[in-house]
Amino acid sequence: MKKIIFPFILFSLISVGAYAYQRYSQNIPSNNFPITTNTSQSSSTLPASIGITNKTGITMSQIATHSSVNDCWVAISGKTYDLTAFIPKHQGGAKAVIKTCGTDATNAFNAKSVHQQPSAAAVLVTYYIGNVQ
Ligand code: HEM
Repeated sequence: MKKIIFPFILFSLISVGAYAYQRYSQNIPSNNFPITTNTSQSSSTLPASIGITNKTGITMSQIATHSSVNDCWVAISGKTYDLTAFIPKHQGGAKAVIKTCGTDATNAFNAKSVHQQPSAAAVLVTYYIGNVQ
């Protein structure tokens, strides 16, 4: 009898283990829908909370109304970024960014070669809120 039970238990443990490994390594929660993260922003998913529904529609005068440390939008190369949350994270110091809030910061940004690193672009894109009209 033992001869049958032992391999059976071993097989069961391996099966359960393999199933659990597969489920957790794919990050699938118990409702069977894999977790997906949407990194691209289409105009329909732009945050309505800040009143932007059209990516092409942010004017320089709109940007100019977000010119403080607590509400900081900038234009860089024709794109608008809300850098409010980024200010305390800027490696070059908060002041450098604060100075440009509410303005076209393209020249200030391009003036430092460190900003040409792909890593800087990757950070910047996460603050993108729309194009400049
Ligand atoms: C409005 C946008 C920005 C402006 C005006 C700006 C301006 C500056 C300036 C003036 C410096 C030089 C500071 C100094 O040498 O004293 C600097 C450094 C730096 N910035 Fe920015 N920056 C901006 C956005 C960003 C973004 C989006 C990133 C993304 C990661 C970034 C990453 C860095 C890094 C890594 C340094 C070098 C810090 C060091 O030398 O230790 N900056 N920035």
